[in-house]
Amino acid sequence: MYRSQPFGFDTSMLAGILSTARRNNPRQGITGALICRHDLYLQLIEGPESAIDALYARILEDDRHANVELLLSEDMGERMFPNWAMLDDEAPSLFWSAQDVEAGALEAADPEELRAPFARLSSANPGD
Ligand SMILES: Cc1cc2nc3c(=O)[nH]c(=O)nc-3n(C[C@H](O)[C@H](O)[C@H](O)COP(=O)(O)O)c2cc1C
Repeated sequence: MYRSQPFGFDTSMLAGILSTARRNNPRQGITGALICRHDLYLQLIEGPESAIDALYARILEDDRHANVELLLSEDMGERMFPNWAMLDDEAPSLFWSAQDVEAGALEAADPEELRAPFARLSSANPGD
């Protein structure tokens, strides 16, 4: 799980990112969810470690966002988004206001708090 700041956020940029993600991720065994808001991307990526490392390296280089920061990296017993190449959510399920984020709420959050919005998204979107 990482966070970043969108650079020039708009719906066509988001659509481009999601279409690439949905094309590439199934081939790599990757699933996950991207929470997006004008001030924030928060992405959970799950799958084989080597595939995640390769994707994260590309994401770090992507100039459609800035200040990419790893928040959590852990072994997961079970996927939260087994049926989603990359679910997107425009942050209604997010806890933190833009002000909270600015004030460092994500860096201060513990792993359980970081997982919580994704857990809610996952139960709201079981997929096929
Ligand atoms: C916030 C954000 C999330 C992204 N998520 C993914 C993703 O889940 N899968 C993916 O393949 N690319 C993702 N990308 C795009 C990658 O940075 C990169 O542009 C892409 O993987 C290159 O793929 P291509 O060589 O097939 O064009 C994301 C980019 C951003 C800015």
